[in-house]
Amino acid sequence: MQERILGRTGLKISEIGFGTWGLGGTMWLGAEDKESLNALHRAADLGMNFLDTALVYGEGHSEQLIGKFLQEHTGPMYVATKIPPKNMGWPARTGTPLGKAFPYSHIIESTEKSLKNLGVETIDLQQLHVWLDDWTDAAEWYEAVSTLKSEGKIRNIGISINDHQPANAVKAVRSGKIDAVQVIYNIFDQEPEDDLFPVCHANNVGVIVRCPFDEGALTGTIRPDTTFPHGDWRNRYFRGDRKQQVFDRAEKLRALLGKEAATLPELALRFCLHHPAVATVIPGMRSVRNVEANCAVSDDRPLSAAIIRELRHHAWDKNFYSEPD
Ligand SMILES: NC(=O)c1ccc[n+]([C@@H]2O[C@H](COP(=O)([O-])OP(=O)(O)OC[C@H]3O[C@@H](n4cnc5c(N)ncnc54)[C@H](OP(=O)(O)O)[C@@H]3O)[C@@H](O)[C@H]2O)c1
Repeated sequence: MQERILGRTGLKISEIGFGTWGLGGTMWLGAEDKESLNALHRAADLGMNFLDTALVYGEGHSEQLIGKFLQEHTGPMYVATKIPPKNMGWPARTGTPLGKAFPYSHIIESTEKSLKNLGVETIDLQQLHVWLDDWTDAAEWYEAVSTLKSEGKIRNIGISINDHQPANAVKAVRSGKIDAVQVIYNIFDQEPEDDLFPVCHANNVGVIVRCPFDEGALTGTIRPDTTFPHGDWRNRYFRGDRKQQVFDRAEKLRALLGKEAATLPELALRFCLHHPAVATVIPGMRSVRNVEANCAVSDDRPLSAAIIRELRHHAWDKNFYSEPD
């Protein structure tokens, strides 16, 4: 497993990290705690040392499971979690006052809950789960973060950027107040390369890439007849003819498979890793099988410029999270 430095946090983290939304068990259905724990241990055995979770994932269940894993695990493991907006508004809507989403007391109380769930004294990276760049100069969030840092409850602060709005953190990155950003970046959404990555590079702000598979679309496993358990949030994400659309797009990508990437998940991860601004990619994983496949991608064989040029043609401007029906 190759490691990279997460910007000014100085943390030396595995370039494949572990996305744990699915372990929460409420929005992604079908996770088994025993298999989730096995997957976490297998990933650690393979050199993974960075986990991303959030207080809301399974209403604390993902964090609690990680807490259990951390008790059993010996060795370095860096944990990033997130503070939900107090108004539970995803994404943060333009014009929302900071005080509705991240008042001082909410930042402190949410962090206390996460520390308890995780069973740790310090969170390596605390993140705000939504963001509006208009909030950059508001004093309240930064005072709360400074208090948590001075008390040793968090080491670093990051922003998890609203879906498909990579430029909506550029001001915060430039302000020098944040240490890392988490952003959607994948073969379909290559937009972070335009404005966000250069400014992160210039300010030494670490980049965590989420949704490398566009919620599974880029793995090629979503077929027109794929079904999800009743109540699983992907029934909405892949509604209407979207399964057919993503299947057609993934099939076109198969033409690029070969020596540089043997499978679609490998191609998707290698695309994310090719960019030097990226510190780690956090695929969502719930099984030992996926952990083994994804960790195996980390080596020192970057995709060639020729294949990256080809992948430019596969960018797809869409927002399945919030486009109306
Ligand atoms: N707003 C935010 O801050 C936010 C939003 C979304 C995600 N995140 C973070 O980012 C992480 C990653 O995003 P995500 O989980 O939403 O989506 P993702 O990583 O794009 O896709 C996850 C899907 O890919 C599948 N998968 C993983 N490895 C595979 C492989 N090798 N072969 C085939 N399928 C594979 C998973 O399978 P299974 O179904 O078998 O598990 C799951 O269905 C999350 O877990 C979370 O930590 C943050």
